Amino acid sequence: MKVRSCDLLLAGASEVVSSPPHVGPLRNEALDRLVVTPFASLAIESDRIVGIGPHEDIARQFTSSVTVDVSGKVVSAGLIDPHTHLVHGGARDAEYEAIVTGASLAVSHLGGGINSTVAMTRSASDAELTFRALADLDTMLALGTTTIEAKSGYGLSRDQELRLLRVLANLDHPVSIERTYLGAHVVPAETDRRNFVDQIIATLPEARLLADWCDVFCDPVGFTVPETRAIGAAALMLGFRMRLHADQTGDIAGAALAAELGAGSADHLDYISDAGIAALAASDTVGVVLPTVALHMLEIFPGLLDGRTIEPSKPDLAERVHAMLDAGVALALSTDYNPGSSPCLSMQLVMQLAMRFFHLSYAQVWNMATANAAHSLGLGHDRGTIAPGMRADLVVWNVPTHGLVINRFGASHVAHVVKDGRVVYSATSA
Ligand code: NIG
Ligand code: FE
Repeated sequence: MKVRSCDLLLAGASEVVSSPPHVGPLRNEALDRLVVTPFASLAIESDRIVGIGPHEDIARQFTSSVTVDVSGKVVSAGLIDPHTHLVHGGARDAEYEAIVTGASLAVSHLGGGINSTVAMTRSASDAELTFRALADLDTMLALGTTTIEAKSGYGLSRDQELRLLRVLANLDHPVSIERTYLGAHVVPAETDRRNFVDQIIATLPEARLLADWCDVFCDPVGFTVPETRAIGAAALMLGFRMRLHADQTGDIAGAALAAELGAGSADHLDYISDAGIAALAASDTVGVVLPTVALHMLEIFPGLLDGRTIEPSKPDLAERVHAMLDAGVALALSTDYNPGSSPCLSMQLVMQLAMRFFHLSYAQVWNMATANAAHSLGLGHDRGTIAPGMRADLVVWNVPTHGLVINRFGASHVAHVVKDGRVVYSATSA
């Protein structure tokens, strides 16, 4: 056999772990399956995977001047974070202390909290927002995330929303970013709802030049189903694809609307109804669940505070997640990175918490953080799975088995990150 030269070899991994080959998002039994190749190597040419298999086979077929010894380590697809509010100003750590110590209730803070970040975002310069976003992207990459979705949503006026999308568009960073216009985050205080929805719709053509996705917070705190449908219909006419924040603080049938609009994703879903589950299961819309949000907002723990018993304010999320899995909904995971409800940049932590809170298998968690997250962004044909022809976005993990990445929680396990075929991050200990 003729030996082929390639640009990069990852040689001798204890395991290469990948979602099974598939068309469309994984669901049902397929979501609980992984392809694990022991003592394996990967060959990379330009930004593509060109060979994956047992080490001896790859060593016979390929040579490269750049070989990274990954013995004793796991290689997986890069993690994909399909829901972030990357660009924002200020911080909400003081608000958080008030929530935790019982001075105020988390849910009453969501709308108010978003509005306080809007004020801090509006007063931040483009340079400040850019500096912050790039620093956060560095952290995400170091934690193994190679593609994210990022929304506007803290501008809430035509000019400010377009400014945030421009800041996003100008970020120069190895992490790939899918941009989303979230003009419909909340209705600003003292603003007429009808006028505000009209303004969002009027901004869509300009936003379309800067974003492929349009999101609406379809929720009692955000926008009604008729308002969301009107924004969605106008956005679809312009070639946007939809993703919805759906049923986060109450069931208003947001999930079913996401399916109706052919959305890439319906996110949160804490209060999803059985009808919403049936609608998602019958669609290709991926349900994105966000374990850090309910944890951070203290919505899932009972507690005792000043002699009062605090009941968990959210439905049993593990029950809802399993109702979705049993019905055949394709699920993915995300951080929902934002300064209020989830100031968390780590998909590793999300994977670790999802397993614990939702009673998931390692296979389900890996598939939800890679292949299905990619599918929710319409990128499943290009990344999220390890196979010849797929983009060489990969993580080398400093542990010998894929379960340990999730089982050992609290510290990062990343040794190297490969993005578009290049090693773009290495931990100092690796
Ligand atoms: O996804 N739900 C709406 N938006 C955010 C909350 C953002 C914030 O608290 O600033 C979310 O949880
Ligand atoms: Fe969000």
